[in-house]
Amino acid sequence: MRTKEIRIFVYEYDNVSELNDSDQQLVLEARKIAANAYAPYSGFNVGASLLLENGEVISGNNQENAAFTTGLCAERVALFYANAAFPKLSVKAMAVTAANQHGLLEDTVKPCGSCRQAILETEVRFNKPIKIILDGKNKIQVFEGVENLLPFAFKPESLD
Ligand code: THU
Repeated sequence: MRTKEIRIFVYEYDNVSELNDSDQQLVLEARKIAANAYAPYSGFNVGASLLLENGEVISGNNQENAAFTTGLCAERVALFYANAAFPKLSVKAMAVTAANQHGLLEDTVKPCGSCRQAILETEVRFNKPIKIILDGKNKIQVFEGVENLLPFAFKPESLD
């Protein structure tokens, strides 16, 4: 038997104003698009904004459905659109934010497992880690690549 310790890193900030300009801008875009979410069933509005390598910002929000499982998370709406419209451009950073009926979440929003897996696929596709910025009213968390959110991941090479 062996025990292994794996290290993951998260950088925490108290406020969006502590981020660099580009990251700050991305969080503000995510907050803006979250307001347009179609989330009549959960009342949980999520926004995700991506910074592409050419400086373009692509944003998405969650799209729900009366047949619940048909809906899609904000992160995947944004990622799939970016990968569809700009198949040659890597994604440098992603900001995610969420609001419920009380407004912006106090703690940071946590991407679901399927979204973490979709972020990983985009990293692998372009061979570039994606900086992930999770927004909250009292905390911002920054991860330098999805490996810090999804250790022991199933990767394309896992198919070999
Ligand atoms: N949701 C997202 O869009 N992203 C997340 O990171 C977590 C959950 C959506 C899915 C569903 O529309 C609602 O939030 C409640 O789960």
